[in-house]
Amino acid sequence: MTRTPYIAANWKMHKTKTDVQDFCNVFSQKPFNTVSHTDIVICPPSIWLDTTFNSLKNTPVKIGSQNIHQAEEGAYTGEISASMVRSLGASITLIGHSERRQYFNETNEIVNQKLHLAYTHQLQAVVCIGESLEEREANNTNTVLTTQLTEGLKNAEALIKAVPSQLVIAYEPIWAIGTGKVASTEQAQEAHHHIRNVLSQLVSADIANQIRILYGGSVKPTNSQELLSQPDIDGALIGGASLEVESFWSIIKG
Ligand code: PGA
Repeated sequence: MTRTPYIAANWKMHKTKTDVQDFCNVFSQKPFNTVSHTDIVICPPSIWLDTTFNSLKNTPVKIGSQNIHQAEEGAYTGEISASMVRSLGASITLIGHSERRQYFNETNEIVNQKLHLAYTHQLQAVVCIGESLEEREANNTNTVLTTQLTEGLKNAEALIKAVPSQLVIAYEPIWAIGTGKVASTEQAQEAHHHIRNVLSQLVSADIANQIRILYGGSVKPTNSQELLSQPDIDGALIGGASLEVESFWSIIKG
């Protein structure tokens, strides 16, 4: 089973409007025909979804939101909904990034509600999971990942089976995010293999083989190729190294 490689930028809370325009002006000139076998995604701050989408609309780059709220709409001051991001050109959304879980109290139950909304609004969901350093050191990595997947994907089995490409998993060990500490290729491959096994049990081996599993956490041009050469690592979710055109492009080029 060959899975299309998937390289996604997560800009987090970085870049002003001018920074976004400058990035897109340079990025849009890159020879995308040479990387046509790869899905390329940028998740800018939601306020720049429109600008990013319009600046890159002549390229194959897809635009994703970093978050959606778990309600369709309502009195949730400051929040953004699935239909709003969809109307700005986003076709993807990250769900349950560890920073959302840590700073905004996102539980697996909320992740699950967001996943269902993403399916309703035809947004591809990049569900982020990963263990903390304490959990890894206590040998609980696999248990944590199993729980995050089982609870996060609850009652979505039929949706996933109907459109497997609408689900992407990002494995991001919390201790490797923004710290410069990348998981070893063995650690990453082992976790990805475990994730695929859990997906096999939740849906089926055939569907699990179609779902892309991305690695995230201090991915750089210097370590991306080795990570991406692993059998169960299908792409990368990149924070810091996606902020500059040249380092992001270098990872995409492989
Ligand atoms: P990083 O962030 O590449 O800066 O470690 C990755 C992420 O949080 O998605």
